[in-house]
Amino acid sequence: MSDTKDVFILAIESSCDETAASVVKNGREVLSNVISSQIALHTLYGGVVPEIASRKHIEKINQVIEEALKEAGVTLKDITAIAVTYGPGLVGALLVGVSAAKAISFATGIPLIGVHHIEGHISANFIENKELEPPFVCLVASGGHSHLVVVKGYGEYEIIGRTRDDAAGEAFDKVARAIGLGYPGGPKIDKLSKEGNPDAIHFPRAKVQENEYDFSFSGLKSAVLNYLNGCQMKGEPVCKADVAASFQKAVIEVLVEHSLHAVKEFGYDKFAIAGGVASNSSLRAAFEEACAENHVTFYHPSPIFCTDNAAMIGVAGYYEYLKGVRSGLDLNAVPNLKLGER
Ligand code: KG4
Ligand code: ZN
Repeated sequence: MSDTKDVFILAIESSCDETAASVVKNGREVLSNVISSQIALHTLYGGVVPEIASRKHIEKINQVIEEALKEAGVTLKDITAIAVTYGPGLVGALLVGVSAAKAISFATGIPLIGVHHIEGHISANFIENKELEPPFVCLVASGGHSHLVVVKGYGEYEIIGRTRDDAAGEAFDKVARAIGLGYPGGPKIDKLSKEGNPDAIHFPRAKVQENEYDFSFSGLKSAVLNYLNGCQMKGEPVCKADVAASFQKAVIEVLVEHSLHAVKEFGYDKFAIAGGVASNSSLRAAFEEACAENHVTFYHPSPIFCTDNAAMIGVAGYYEYLKGVRSGLDLNAVPNLKLGER
């Protein structure tokens, strides 16, 4: 079924609470994107329980890989290389994907490529934006990371800003929990905000003195908690929709301001967003507007490619494959893997 020059990557992702597998053709064509989400299971506990996540990954991984191959209409014989997320993430969760990938590689001789999870998130932009090529600036905002990155080339990154404390997604999750929305907070705050007034409450926009591109969200989270406590002590009712909308506006304003400042200062005309928070509807609208005003071309993946998936790992794996990167069977999970490290 394939031209011999075609490159088919089987990608596996299990760094947090999604067990995912995908087949990507020639780096930009997603032939399948299977995601088995554990969200419903972790909702019971108000967040991801690492031990439960690992066990669920073990139950699902083989089935998810088989489905991805089937949906793509390929067999392992067609696969050029196997790309797998090996960090950062939950160690027990990562190990399941890494072990599955190594087992397939060992049994078939198909080359193995360890992929950085954040590199995957950034690469999600290449799926639907066929014309997008580095260099560009990318904001990665997920549950564990808030990074401003200059994508200098495929797999070549310079981190220019990062969070000093909570990641943006973490702030969404914590505030959602405080106003009783449950886990995961991002999508719930996104939805509830549409019914609220974003100017009802003024929450602080933190500036980090030493680096104008860094973020800090813990002060904002505390301000929301203080506001809620204040209302409770005074016996005043809380309008959850107004809290959600005002909090969300504060996060988005900081993300937009820092990102556009970086794009201009570093002299780029392309800007992309990535990670779970990038699926936020108001954030996408705010960036759309700010980029248009500043004559910057704005790129964003569809929401399904923003949250964790294996297609993005397949895309990143493809560019690593082209560069000749191969991992040995001693590939291990690296829970705190830094971007740009191998
Ligand atoms: O990228 P991701 O799926 O996993 C990590 O690598 O962390 O991101 C998950 C994070 C969670 O904190 C979740 O609340 C947030 O992304 N998120 C959102 C939205 N959808 C997911 N945050 C704001 N608005 C959304 N619509
Ligand atoms: Zn992620």
